Amino acid sequence: MKVLVIGSGAREHCLVDKLSQSPKVSKIYCAPGNGGTAHLAENIEIKADNLDRLLDFALKENVELTVVGPEIPLAKGIVDLFNDQGLKIFGPAKELAKLESSKVFAKEIMKKYGIPTADFKVFSQPKPAKEYIERKGAPVVVKADGLAAGKGVMVCESEAEARQAVDTIMGKKKFGEAGEKIIIEDCLQGQELSLLAFSDGETILPLAASQDHKRIFDNDQGANTGGMGAYAPVPLLDKQNFDKIINEIFQPLIEGLGRENKIYKGILYAGIMIFNNKPNLLEFNVRFGDPEAQVVLPKLKGDLADIMLKTIDGNLKQAKVEWDQRSFVCVVLASGGYPGKYQKGKEISGLEELEKQKDILVYHAGTKRENEKIVTNGGRVLSVVGSGLTLKEAKEKAYQAVDKINFKGVQYRKDISDKAFNKS
Ligand SMILES: Nc1ncnc2c1ncn2[C@@H]1O[C@H](COP(=O)(O)OP(=O)(O)O)[C@@H](O)[C@H]1O
Ligand SMILES: [Mg+2]
Repeated sequence: MKVLVIGSGAREHCLVDKLSQSPKVSKIYCAPGNGGTAHLAENIEIKADNLDRLLDFALKENVELTVVGPEIPLAKGIVDLFNDQGLKIFGPAKELAKLESSKVFAKEIMKKYGIPTADFKVFSQPKPAKEYIERKGAPVVVKADGLAAGKGVMVCESEAEARQAVDTIMGKKKFGEAGEKIIIEDCLQGQELSLLAFSDGETILPLAASQDHKRIFDNDQGANTGGMGAYAPVPLLDKQNFDKIINEIFQPLIEGLGRENKIYKGILYAGIMIFNNKPNLLEFNVRFGDPEAQVVLPKLKGDLADIMLKTIDGNLKQAKVEWDQRSFVCVVLASGGYPGKYQKGKEISGLEELEKQKDILVYHAGTKRENEKIVTNGGRVLSVVGSGLTLKEAKEKAYQAVDKINFKGVQYRKDISDKAFNKS
């Protein structure tokens, strides 16, 4: 079977790697891919948001399964487009990709199905929004409705800050159309975690819980990034709260949508905050997280292509899965200056030696091949994943591997997974 993976991050390299292990898969294309996917797949120079060209390519090459990494093509309706041509593609239809691409849509669904989430109100004008802020007081959270590359949410410590957030989104229109509506919601406190599950509209198959590290510096300091590391599983999530997430969040959503003849197919990602020892839903995403994929997919021992096909066909119940009992810790190596300005084209050394190590996985993101060399080509450059019987061991392995890799200006966090043992 020929498979097309869409995207160019470490998440996509991890997907390509996992799919390449399937006996069903004979050939993988990756559009546009990176220096790492080039090893296992044929990189195709089509951008992830060029839906028409992706469709032409899939038709021409008789691609039998397309897997979408990032959210943008899903929000633009790539699944509907491919399905209309009889092509199998893994992910939700445009109407349900709105669970990620519109926070207003998502919050209204949560409310409708009684899913635990922070209280909120929706505004399309700044004045009533500011009046609401005055009534509610700080801290309070201001969110742009649409996709804003992880920058549209502002957790505000004071009312003045919250008013300013409203002006940034609605007055200065920093996020364009994505900020035509805003949500103002209560501020929750607690530890965050992600739970991702396959859904075919009926069966829910959860992956291990994981925890992302969004800020650039240790101890969650500095600017937000695409994600600087992750680990799985999450010891803080006990069986009781895990079951609650399934029974109070995933199940009501899938069933509620089903009652309206809306079938959610693909990966459903729940961003959870454990608040007063209860799981609250912060957001849904409609695809694998990056870097979460790099720690949850290695734990899955089944045939990923088969699981994806069964998801698409509505047979997920029959999927065979086993779990790797080990823990995984992913450290992201980024270019100096990221998430601000950074340089590209720095030679990366030390990769070859790690290829032979069984307990280390290295997934490429912003890299490319230049002659015989691998050079940096983006902000987040590599995901280095260590595995071990405990999180502590996995962390040690990951950082031992990180020490072996070098490129000019490399930066990374030194504390990935430390939060696992911090109960506050
Ligand atoms: N109600 C809330 N209370 C406290 N923090 C929040 C709340 N909503 C969001 N956040 C914080 O903001 C981050 C981003 O919000 P999220 O809804 O996940 O949007 P996105 O990932 O699209 O930027 C969350 O990971 C969390 O740290
Ligand atoms: Mg989020």
